[in-house]
Amino acid sequence: MSQPSAVPHESEHHDAEPILSVRGLQVDFGGPHQAVADVSLDLHAGQILGVAGQSGSGKSLTALAALGLAPTNADVSGSIRFKGRELVGAKESERAKVRGSGMTMIFQETVTALNPVVQIERQLELALRANVACSKAEAKDRIVQALQDVQLRDVSRVLESYPHELSGGMCQRVMIAMALVCGADVLFADEPTTALDVTVQREVMDIIRRITDERKLAVMLISHDIGVLDEVSDRLVVMYRGRVIETGPSSAVIARPQHPYTKALINSIPRIHGSHNEFIEMPPLDFEEFAPVDHQGREVVA
Ligand SMILES: Nc1ncnc2c1ncn2[C@@H]1O[C@H](COP(=O)(O)OP(=O)(O)OP(=O)(O)O)[C@@H](O)[C@H]1O
Ligand SMILES: [Mg+2]
Repeated sequence: MSQPSAVPHESEHHDAEPILSVRGLQVDFGGPHQAVADVSLDLHAGQILGVAGQSGSGKSLTALAALGLAPTNADVSGSIRFKGRELVGAKESERAKVRGSGMTMIFQETVTALNPVVQIERQLELALRANVACSKAEAKDRIVQALQDVQLRDVSRVLESYPHELSGGMCQRVMIAMALVCGADVLFADEPTTALDVTVQREVMDIIRRITDERKLAVMLISHDIGVLDEVSDRLVVMYRGRVIETGPSSAVIARPQHPYTKALINSIPRIHGSHNEFIEMPPLDFEEFAPVDHQGREVVA
């Protein structure tokens, strides 16, 4: 396996230590290309790191590997430190503990993530009490609070509902509440709004932004749509074939993209006025010719 190169990595000059720090992450299935070839990034409290890139670029696998949920046939190497603790090579029991109350994930497909035959209150209670020791009364308080935090009105009706009785947007809010009810510090949100219409998409993104600020969450927000990420992310990572090829503050990456792949992604953002440029499938880019870019001015040796 090749050694990770010095790709740009995602750390601003923060005073505080990152909550999650990933260095030289590789996920290998034994094929000709590594699914995740070399990813380094930091997640900071109260910040959203947007991760963009086309299908198959390794976005989901990066999040899953950080959670210890990469497929069992994957060889995961590199470093994943949660609050300073190294997780690569840690016991499964320790990883499960971190997953329960430290790091959590929400997925695009709420339909499959929520149990169709169990009422919402019971689902939230099971998620909470599997990870946090608390009385039934405390559990109820936390559940109601979490549902209020994701701005669900009529909480008592939602608690009694089955998933099919709620709209897609409401189900996604329930999923966010479920992810938060255990008090996690890190949230991976993998295409959380792709299945929703544009208005609801915006509402859900606003909720993610608000809870990030209020709860000082460290969030990785994955989307193939860099335009959506631009609106809510503090910083951006652009992934291409398992690598970070451009990173920096969202505004800088969007205003002054340097890498040809980032330029193509930004060019494909639909615009209200003017024409919508289709994303042009690019020929494989040579990493030697187009070096990764870090807008924070780090020396980058690709
Ligand atoms: N179980 C697996 N076995 C072999 N290869 C896999 C497996 N899971 C993922 N991969 C490979 O890893 C690569 C990255 O997958 P990943 O799911 O992280 O992509 P992604 O960026 O999330 O894409 P999408 O936007 O479609 O969700 C893909 O090219 C895929 O072929
Ligand atoms: Mg994915």
